[in-house]
Amino acid sequence: MKPEYDVLIIGSGLAGQSTALRLADKGARVLLISKRILEETASSRAQGGIAAVLDSQDSIEAHIQDTLVAGAYLNDPRATRFVVENSRAAIEWLIEQGVPFTKDHLGYHLTREGGHSARRIIHVADATGLAVQETLSRLLRQHPGIEIRENHIAIELITGKKLGLPENRCYGAYVLDDASGEIHTISASQTLLATGGAGKVYLYTTNPDTSTGDGIAMAWRAGCRVANMEFIQFHPTCLYHPSEKSFLISEAVRGEGGILQLPDGSRFMPAHDARAELAPRDVVARAIDFEMKKRGLDCVFLNISHKGKDFILEHFPNIHAHCLSLGIDITVAPIPVVPAAHYTCGGVLIDLAGRTDLPGLYAIGESSCSGLHGANRLASNSLLECLVFAKSAAEAMLAQTPLPPPFPVLPKWDESRVTEASETITIAHDWDELRRLMWDYVGIVRTTHRLRRALSRIRVLRREIDDFYANHRVNHDLIELRNLVVNAELIVRSALRRKESRGLHFSRDYPALLPKAKNTVLKR
Ligand code: FAD
Ligand code: SIN
Repeated sequence: MKPEYDVLIIGSGLAGQSTALRLADKGARVLLISKRILEETASSRAQGGIAAVLDSQDSIEAHIQDTLVAGAYLNDPRATRFVVENSRAAIEWLIEQGVPFTKDHLGYHLTREGGHSARRIIHVADATGLAVQETLSRLLRQHPGIEIRENHIAIELITGKKLGLPENRCYGAYVLDDASGEIHTISASQTLLATGGAGKVYLYTTNPDTSTGDGIAMAWRAGCRVANMEFIQFHPTCLYHPSEKSFLISEAVRGEGGILQLPDGSRFMPAHDARAELAPRDVVARAIDFEMKKRGLDCVFLNISHKGKDFILEHFPNIHAHCLSLGIDITVAPIPVVPAAHYTCGGVLIDLAGRTDLPGLYAIGESSCSGLHGANRLASNSLLECLVFAKSAAEAMLAQTPLPPPFPVLPKWDESRVTEASETITIAHDWDELRRLMWDYVGIVRTTHRLRRALSRIRVLRREIDDFYANHRVNHDLIELRNLVVNAELIVRSALRRKESRGLHFSRDYPALLPKAKNTVLKR
């Protein structure tokens, strides 16, 4: 048998889209699946922009150093250098594809964000991700080498081990077509996980509904190592509004002079860190959490109104319009904000070409752990990581394609032992319980007692969900819940292993930093 595709790409964010284009431009037959529509991704929500060394005043060494400082020196120095050295080429590729980056009289406008010692964030006003995704989607949809299937959700990877073959490699995946309910067996020489992060494991998040850590859970079940899952980044400034739970107020607002205030208008960041509002995210999020808990506040405020209406409309047109639609005019009033889960720094362990532990399986973007982010991602480094690894993974996959025969015959999905669920209330309940529990027990500031409590409850939930999954026909929500609970367990197990406070992981029981930075690597 011959595989249907050279490469199966699971996910249509920046990681998946850019790899698909790179592969198909070199003649590979690509199937790209997305569990919703192409643009429903974290990538399309990105506001601030993409970090890259583009200014003559900036340097590769400075960008590397900022990344290491933010990452509390847990970063892999090779991966960090690899990404930063390739940053200019990555942006040039996007410009070639037609992305309309914002310009000023000097060329491309570069903004600034927390933790960056220079202006190095290239952007498209305050809606960078959407502009990038729309540009790439247009190219993808007309590319003859790329087949796209939207509303198709991958359930499980097909591996040699599951098929009882002597060679354990990835041969493709089982995929549910949400519209027809059919489960397809997709065969491919190489499979790429570009499935994004797991922010939906928390009650409050900036992430889209698609961020349920599916790729991390699938790779984990297939035997891959997963690293550094305790490092969940909480963005300091998510809009606080009763009818809006996940709208981000970009870090660039602080980068361009926005000030964090208490309800009485007083500034509090200088008392927490000399870098004040421009300290890295973990510092700012913890400071806000501290002030809110100490004073019993529902939110704090981010004020940019002093920069004037023209400046605000030029730099933050979308944030301005969105807030205005909710009755907040940011040109005259401060914005109510709270921290929310934003980015999964850990993920499937990969090398510099996106290879996982399982031959034939690659992972890049937020689903992966490349070593770039260490204990805390520097703002705007993640879109850059997607782009740089898309190129290296595409090159590695092309070198392995086509696979020499024989390719095994893949069995169809077996539904002979399951029945249709008579009710789905348990799925909805478990989903809510899990997200509330993670928010309450595994948040910005952690304790061993709360983590242990979380772990024992998560394990009960996982057993219940696995049992339900084994006996009932799969559907979209069940697939995601089964993956979310795996991610929750990986996060808590990793957090319990870390006996220090580093970067995004802050434990009241272990407030000190250990002298040696070590990754948390879990193996099934
Ligand atoms: P995503 O963009 O999340 O894409 C994942 C894709 O996988 C989706 O298409 C999803 O449908 C699909 N998928 C998932 N599971 C399955 C499955 N089982 N089957 C089929 N498909 C599946 N980073 C920056 O560098 N700069 C910024 O300015 C910035 N701003 C941000 C603002 C917001 C509000 C958010 C949420 C994030 C921001 N980030 C930013 C982070 C950055 O956007 C993400 O880390 C990055 O986009 C991840 O890209 P990705 O391709 O790995 O995943
Ligand atoms: C933002 O615009 O604040 C998000 C930037 C990022 O997450 O990198």
